[in-house]
Amino acid sequence: MNKFHLIAAFAAVALSASATEVKSPDGTVSLDFEVKDGVPTYTLDYGDKVVIKPSALGLELVNDTDLMDGFELVSTKESTFDETWQPVWGETRDIRNHYTELLAELRQPATGRLMNLRFRVYDDGVGFRYEFPTQPNLVYFVVAEEHTQFAMNGDHIAWWIAGDYDTQEYDYTESRLSEIRGKMQGAISSNASQTQFSPTGVQTSLQLKTDDGLYINIHEAALVDYSCMHLNLDDKNMVFESWLTPDAVGNKAYMQAPAKTPWRTVMVSDDARQMLASNLILNLNDPCAYEDTSWIKPVKYVGVWWEMIGHGKQWSYTYDLPSVKLDSLDYSKTKPHGQHPANTENVKRYIDFAAEHGFDQVLVEGWNVGWEDWFGHSKDYVFDFVTPYPDFDLDGLNKYAASKGVKLMMHHETSGSVRNYERHMEEAYNLMNKYGYNAVKSGYVGNMIPRGEHHYGQWLNNHYLYAVTEAAKHKIMVNAHEAVRPTGLCRTYPNLIGNESARGTEYESFAGNKPSHTTVLPFTRLQGGPMDYTPGIFEMDMKKVNPNSAGHVNSTLARQLALYVTMYSPLQMAADVPESYERFMDAFQFIKDVAVDWDDSRYIEAEPGRYIVVARKAKGKDDWFVGCTASEHGHDTVLPLDFLDKGRKYKATIYADAPDAHYLDNPQAYTISTKTVNAKSRLKLKAAPGGGFAISITPVD
Ligand code: NOJ
Ligand code: CA
Repeated sequence: MNKFHLIAAFAAVALSASATEVKSPDGTVSLDFEVKDGVPTYTLDYGDKVVIKPSALGLELVNDTDLMDGFELVSTKESTFDETWQPVWGETRDIRNHYTELLAELRQPATGRLMNLRFRVYDDGVGFRYEFPTQPNLVYFVVAEEHTQFAMNGDHIAWWIAGDYDTQEYDYTESRLSEIRGKMQGAISSNASQTQFSPTGVQTSLQLKTDDGLYINIHEAALVDYSCMHLNLDDKNMVFESWLTPDAVGNKAYMQAPAKTPWRTVMVSDDARQMLASNLILNLNDPCAYEDTSWIKPVKYVGVWWEMIGHGKQWSYTYDLPSVKLDSLDYSKTKPHGQHPANTENVKRYIDFAAEHGFDQVLVEGWNVGWEDWFGHSKDYVFDFVTPYPDFDLDGLNKYAASKGVKLMMHHETSGSVRNYERHMEEAYNLMNKYGYNAVKSGYVGNMIPRGEHHYGQWLNNHYLYAVTEAAKHKIMVNAHEAVRPTGLCRTYPNLIGNESARGTEYESFAGNKPSHTTVLPFTRLQGGPMDYTPGIFEMDMKKVNPNSAGHVNSTLARQLALYVTMYSPLQMAADVPESYERFMDAFQFIKDVAVDWDDSRYIEAEPGRYIVVARKAKGKDDWFVGCTASEHGHDTVLPLDFLDKGRKYKATIYADAPDAHYLDNPQAYTISTKTVNAKSRLKLKAAPGGGFAISITPVD
């Protein structure tokens, strides 16, 4: 709690037990709560516009009286809270957490059970959760379903991905709510998917836009010891209802009082930029749980990754699918296939490249034994996370890296064998400590064993957090792929420096992402926390590097640079191979220069699915970086530089799409120009279809 300042007082007032209205600090957002015929019910307004029509709240229990109706309101308490806190890393140096709180205490007379609803009303939305105080008649219970409603006030436009308990790796579909059902099959078949639960089921964070210009976002905050929430749409009445991820036997959550659900969040603004600038989700999470955070550091890294993902090489050392257990496998007797980038000589090349160009770390995937069966077909053969392949000199490479001021980044693919990972975790983290690793990329590809849990169920959610808090004991930072999508937990556990949990750059190689993809992700996936999107691909024609590739990088090169600014993350990879960067060293300069931690961020223009323009000020410096990412429609802008200090002179280096650039057939056409600018300057800029621009601005006085 070292960096935590409380700057305003807390005041509580007990109100009479009737329908209650609470307003956000500046009065823009108002929340009404009442117990209507025994059913807890809320509505949400933004000014004079309806955001959420009367919507019911409640939980259905397994073999027990439901917590859905028969309630009476015992009391309501209203209070205000105002603090400004400093994240360990983030988009801004200071974050203000200012809300009006309503605590509604309910009682179900027929059972004598108590349930509270806590609402926090912000100027840009609301968070609310269910709380179950310690009580004699509700000790432990099993949730069959949560029935939290979000009744929409119209047939809004939505940016959505299909509901799925195991993956978020989808392209977004933009459609009216009424069109979700008709478009669901297409949205699913564009991905090798696992579990769809409903023809109108979608995932959060869900971004919406109303016909009268309101931007609404539904998500959750502080997902701890509970299942991830999806939304199921009643498309006759336009009512979304929560739909929790089940466990292997169909139950949705196991609770023991005192207990609480995660916060359900509804963000709202008439300005799309506020959706991106909002800190509502972070604010609803608890303050940092660690005393010492000095070991948590943003990271810019390179790695052998794209050689496998993009160029078709292998994580494994040999082709053989062993029929024996890991501990009896003799690699010296198996034949290497020679397509294994995680070898000592190649990794040295990456270390040299990282050292020469100022990168902090080199990620090496495929360094450890076990990849011969990593899709887990037999699940008989799993990783131990400590045994290197014969061609990977663990000790020598770490020493070599250290001698060059670089670190290796650890990789733990669990292959869905999570119990196995937990068994080996302590040793795996010890090994990292021994050799000097301080960051691990983990992964959860494949179906979960032993019980067929889902990736987004309570059991796995507890595991992901366990991996993070255990890592903290070893001063290790975690970047988990295929884990549940983030919900702001990085405020409490800032060593969770990244997640994938969406369709990342890897799909550019597998199939291609929609050019609009990175204009949607900041509105959706990034609401809960940073994404390891792995940008920086300079060779877009995947057939050139891998004849078997079915993908194409649907972006111009200039836009790949912009992603380091528009896709906020304290962990950024320069994902392409060194040979690609050597061809375009002048453009690569931006990736070398760009910061990964910020004192300030200004969202200058934004529209989901169309464009995002953001300017950020580097942490502790006077340098600014601007990024623009555009959809297939491109984007024209006249960019005011009024965020610069008045009276100062700066040099702007502008990396832009060439006039004839196009993400499909001319993606590598870019221009680099410099200009002397000041706070009064305005830059006329044009992003090509699927393009963008990136600008670095440094003071010259
Ligand atoms: C999927 C991850 O998203 C990717 O980055 C990783 O290389 C593979 N799994 C192997 O772990
Ligand atoms: Ca993935």
